[in-house]
Amino acid sequence: MGEGVLKRYADFLDINSSTPVITMGEGGTPLVRPRSLEKKIGCGELYFKLEGCNPTGSFKDRGMVLAVAKALEMGSTAIMCASTGNTSASAAAYGAYCGLTTVVLIPKGEVAKGKMAQAMSYSPKIMAIEGNFDDALKMARLLAGKHSVTLVNSVNPYRLEGQKTAAFEIVDELGDAPDYLFIPVGNAGNISAYWKGFSEYHSLTLTSGTPKMMGFQAEGAAPIVTGIPVDNPSTVASAIRIGNPASWEKALIARDQSGGIIGMVSDEEILSSYKLLSQEEGIFGEPASAASVAGLVRMAHNGMVFADKRVVCIITGSGLKDPDLAVDQSTQDIYHMPLDASAIEKTLNDILKSSDKVSRWI
Ligand code: F0G
Repeated sequence: MGEGVLKRYADFLDINSSTPVITMGEGGTPLVRPRSLEKKIGCGELYFKLEGCNPTGSFKDRGMVLAVAKALEMGSTAIMCASTGNTSASAAAYGAYCGLTTVVLIPKGEVAKGKMAQAMSYSPKIMAIEGNFDDALKMARLLAGKHSVTLVNSVNPYRLEGQKTAAFEIVDELGDAPDYLFIPVGNAGNISAYWKGFSEYHSLTLTSGTPKMMGFQAEGAAPIVTGIPVDNPSTVASAIRIGNPASWEKALIARDQSGGIIGMVSDEEILSSYKLLSQEEGIFGEPASAASVAGLVRMAHNGMVFADKRVVCIITGSGLKDPDLAVDQSTQDIYHMPLDASAIEKTLNDILKSSDKVSRWI
């Protein structure tokens, strides 16, 4: 393993003898079966695909590796993107790995601290724009067209090509396509990429069917649900704080061809699923990732039956991306202790006596 998506899925990607087969170990992410939530939600089978296990902590690396390989193949020496944080971290990492000048445009004050830390560590040129993500993407598209720099946002077709490998991995591991795929939607590239992956495998008769694509936006940033672009998108899930998705049309095609939906969940539901994931399953995803689980919880609550279904939720990024939110949301007591064995022992006894945990292995 660790061979990377370009090598593993070379036959399905636009790779030729001049394409550098680079890798930082992206792809091959775990598909984990939850011990508690599968029963609680009432799914026949439930899986979480942990895309936070990619090299820079999000699914972006799958598409970035191909976009950067193709940029190198074409002789480009500079890449650029606009980002709510994860794309910029991924571009900057692959840019550093390949010796490319990397320019990232981010909405000022809107990027979570973990993503800022990454961007600053990989040392790209960072422009913090006075505007939102949609404004930054508009600028990046405008300027990339005029200068010799490769745009590596998901409007670059190689990004979606690379990202479709996650759908291949799910099928390769489960032996068939799932019945439902729940996924957060921001700029709408990822849902489009998964649909492309599932459709391609199906057209090669590698699956018996295709999943219903269940995309979820945040209520304050749900243009695809309402049908109207949002001027000032707002949500606690900063990764999907997007008002005018670039792949809007493609997402509608994924929804309609698959027989799925694009719905929305409130910040309250996102945060509740964010906590459920970490506290019940030990999975620390970032808030945007929890929108997929929140969507599933909402559908089950509304009476949709998953009892004999195989469901996959995409956990798109690591919880470490947004440490401020994790700390703010925690209601965890911290026992401040002196360095004194008897005081620590007394507290330990109190904890053990009051614990209401029940082992799932008994
Ligand atoms: N989850 C996470 C963690 C993301 O970072 C993003 C998008 C999404 C979900 C939504 O995916 O845009 O393909 O629909 N992040 C982009 C960025 C916009 O700039 O990092 P999408």
